[in-house]
Amino acid sequence: MNADPQFYHSSGITDAVWVHEDPYSNRFNFQPLTSDIETDICIVGAGISGISIAYELVKRGKEVVLVEARDILAGETGRTTGHLASALDDLYQNIAKKHGKSGAKFAAESHQWAINRVGGIASELGIDCEYRLLPGYMVPQHERGSKEYDDDIQEIQEMVKASNEAGLKAQFDAELTVKGWDGKPDQRGGAIFQGQATFHPTKYCKGVLAWLKKQPNFRCYTRTRILSVEEKGVKVLSLGHKYCQAHTESGNTIQCEHAIETTNVPLQKLSVIVQEAWYRTYAIAMRIPKGTVEDCLLYDTADPYKYVRITRCDDQDDYLVVGGSDHKVGQEEARGRFEELEQWTRERFTQAKTVDYRWSGQIFEPVDYMAFIGRNQGNERIYIVTGDSGNGLTHGVLAGKLIADLVEGKPNDWEGLYSPKRVGSMVQSAPEMLAHDVKANMQYKRFLKSDIQDIEDLAPGCGGVLNPTASKPMAIYKDANGQVTKMSAICPHMQAVVCWNPVEKSWDCPVHGSRFGPKGLCVQGPANANLSQA
Ligand SMILES: Cc1cc2nc3c(=O)[nH]c(=O)nc-3n(C[C@H](O)[C@H](O)[C@H](O)COP(=O)(O)OP(=O)(O)OC[C@H]3O[C@@H](n4cnc5c(N)ncnc54)[C@H](O)[C@@H]3O)c2cc1C
Ligand code: FES
Repeated sequence: MNADPQFYHSSGITDAVWVHEDPYSNRFNFQPLTSDIETDICIVGAGISGISIAYELVKRGKEVVLVEARDILAGETGRTTGHLASALDDLYQNIAKKHGKSGAKFAAESHQWAINRVGGIASELGIDCEYRLLPGYMVPQHERGSKEYDDDIQEIQEMVKASNEAGLKAQFDAELTVKGWDGKPDQRGGAIFQGQATFHPTKYCKGVLAWLKKQPNFRCYTRTRILSVEEKGVKVLSLGHKYCQAHTESGNTIQCEHAIETTNVPLQKLSVIVQEAWYRTYAIAMRIPKGTVEDCLLYDTADPYKYVRITRCDDQDDYLVVGGSDHKVGQEEARGRFEELEQWTRERFTQAKTVDYRWSGQIFEPVDYMAFIGRNQGNERIYIVTGDSGNGLTHGVLAGKLIADLVEGKPNDWEGLYSPKRVGSMVQSAPEMLAHDVKANMQYKRFLKSDIQDIEDLAPGCGGVLNPTASKPMAIYKDANGQVTKMSAICPHMQAVVCWNPVEKSWDCPVHGSRFGPKGLCVQGPANANLSQA
């Protein structure tokens, strides 16, 4: 495939701030798989979930093979903002409604475990990754003195109460101020969550991989796309043997006892895919003079909310990393989001200087708020990790313990909460799921639309769908030199028509969120194949 090389390193044309200190050229190179192999465990996808699970299983003595379609950390882990939070985005009052008080307790316990686990591993392996425990602040979005401000405060107080009931250390402080927030509006007051943390995500994951590389029971293959994973064999009582096979695009097979899909979105047609909604989220990194803004994690009550943290820049400045402005994939305009984040930041932090990095990525929201981590629906030996819900880093780390326990047959209190086979909370969430699926399926109407009337209409570096016959829509990309690539605009997952994302120069599917580089390279599932050349 004549793909843009950037899309082997990352899932968009923009770069996240993490490349400032950890450029793509510093990342490890592994080789593609070129023969059939056998192992105890095959893990598909080298982001924080795959690497964390590999770490836990290798530590427990299992033979592990990690397989990646592109380069390591090319997925959303390389494009995150790196908050490690147990104060979950979906709020404990909502989680308790869907999963009961015990479910909310297990959610808090498991995410807190993950925060501490990252700190423990970073310290044990000596990884220099900016890991530090910090307070998390939740502040009102509206001006003090307004009716909306009072509503925000009430919501924050409910959040503190529900978080305490779930076992977190949280308190309300009516006079909370954040050092460095010297602009308007005056949003004093808010919640303080203890024991939150942050880190440099790619440096951390690379540190764990550096350790894994030295272990005799670990192998990693990159640029090796898995097309399918299936369970094989029969076992009746204690007779017979069940195992898994993963098949690569180049025709090789990995035979294993257990297979784990950590591809961010599992490679399957429907099942959990229809129990999630997908959003594009945006982030910027602005220079601020060192020491002028408090080192903390900050969130406001807006929907979608803005989120803030600090990372290293150079001797004079740090970066203020600000995220938010989420919208449903392919269903709303992507342009203007970075400007919105910049304006929001400048209004509040008047010391903010240049915007050096602007990037975006995709997040998946399960309808009942909790990620799907465990045995896949209909399988006993195939496991999945998906549904980050804005907390995909801690979900990925806690998946390490949960899945390693399941593989070893050890009891784990978190199993029911995260099980992809759970039913109760899904039945309760049926109306939300239906509403989302109706909207997503309406996107099939794009079969009748053309974004451009002629290839001549396209400016260099742009793409658009040309559909002259309303039956064979083509995805047309014109590169910076004016060279044109023509592909089928039909998503290989379930035949919807992709949309051009002008911010990331990618093709995004509005039905289940699959994504492709400008020349058709698949960068995000559930599709497992590239756009075909026209
Ligand atoms: C802008 C942004 C900000 C975020 N901020 C936060 C935050 O502050 N805190 C937080 O907790 N979460 C955050 N998230 C979410 C979090 O970053 C992700 O949920 C998490 O990184 C996902 O990790 P992962 O390992 O599951 O998937 P990924 O990192 O996406 O890794 C999946 C890998 O699988 C590979 N793959 C896919 N298909 C195949 C195949 N067929 N064969 C082989 N390999 C394949 C991909 O190439 C990719 O490398 C944010 C996300 C974004 C986009
Ligand atoms: S049709 Fe399902 S992701 Fe495109």
